[in-house]
Amino acid sequence: MSHGSRIGFVVFGLGRAGIIHSTNLIRNPQATLKWIVDIDEDKAKKFVKENFTDTQVIAPSDMERALLDPTVQAAVVATPTDMHEDIVMRCLRAGKAVFCEKPVAPTLEAIENCYKEADSQHLPLLCAFNRRFDPTVRSVFDRVRKDDIGNIQVVKTTSRDSPLPSEGFLRISGGIFHDCCVHDVDVICWMLGEAPHTVFCLAHAFHAYIGAMNDVDTIGVVMKFPSGAIGQIDLSRHAVYGYDQRVEVFGSGGMLTSDNQSSLCATYFHASGSTQNPIKFSFPQRYSEAYELEMNHFIDVIKRKDDLLISKDDVLRSFTVVEAIEKSFQTGQPVSL
Ligand SMILES: NC(=O)c1ccc[n+]([C@@H]2O[C@H](COP(=O)([O-])OP(=O)(O)OC[C@H]3O[C@@H](n4cnc5c(N)ncnc54)[C@H](O)[C@@H]3O)[C@@H](O)[C@H]2O)c1
Repeated sequence: MSHGSRIGFVVFGLGRAGIIHSTNLIRNPQATLKWIVDIDEDKAKKFVKENFTDTQVIAPSDMERALLDPTVQAAVVATPTDMHEDIVMRCLRAGKAVFCEKPVAPTLEAIENCYKEADSQHLPLLCAFNRRFDPTVRSVFDRVRKDDIGNIQVVKTTSRDSPLPSEGFLRISGGIFHDCCVHDVDVICWMLGEAPHTVFCLAHAFHAYIGAMNDVDTIGVVMKFPSGAIGQIDLSRHAVYGYDQRVEVFGSGGMLTSDNQSSLCATYFHASGSTQNPIKFSFPQRYSEAYELEMNHFIDVIKRKDDLLISKDDVLRSFTVVEAIEKSFQTGQPVSL
């Protein structure tokens, strides 16, 4: 494939995540969005019309048309989580590079099989841990790697969602541990370059209907790493004040933080105090740049200009740690890995 050519894409699932990726592909001069596959064809056709593209919309029962299209080199999988594995496998077997929203598959064995298929087809499979591509989070990582704050002693993440996801989404989300906590685990392990040997988790469902789904909405996690570092995760399904996303790394030589962002940074100082603008509302606003950069990275990998930033081992590591965290919550005991 020449470095200058556009990559043809098919997107599966035009929901919250799929709209972000499709919009980025339409704008990306290195890509062409050829097909959208969604059960809601009317919604997808409306999207295509509003974006002035000639993308073809098809139902999942017709997906072979997109998979047999030789001008399609890559697929984005942004369907509900329980469908990822099947679509990932079908895309890889059809010779398409795959960008998949997390999680790639529901079990460790199934994730390994997806990567085995990718390896045997010599195709990239990118698990979209978008936070790694956020320029601020990335700058913290780069400084940690440059040893700017010495030995890392604590890495903390605060992740509170906004708005509260719909009940329909929560029912098929796969649960807060694999839907949300996995992002925090990935960031902390990536920062430290290691996996924890011990994890402990306490959690609660403040929303009764979430408890009734056998899920929780508020989680606290502590992890101990072989280097001695402590990882801490403070996670919630809902913050009323916006999408609260912070990372703090504390080391022997200082501290690095990735703080919340507002679309306007002005502060209004007045007789009774000072007022700031709200932080960004939700993930499409907070991570808009990260989503663009992760798609650019995926295209660079397809064009062999870069190596996958998120490896199979990274994905297996995060999955294993999240399983241990969930087990700790269920048993009330620390879990060793
Ligand atoms: N990394 C992130 O920041 C991030 C953010 C949101 C969602 N996600 C992930 O993206 C995935 C989708 O989540 P969402 O919030 O966009 O969900 P969503 O419910 O908003 O969208 C899912 C879309 O898939 C369509 N769909 C359903 N069945 C389908 C099928 N068989 N074939 C094709 N399309 C089908 C639905 O009609 C809908 O348009 C989930 O795995 C979620 O974990 C990741």
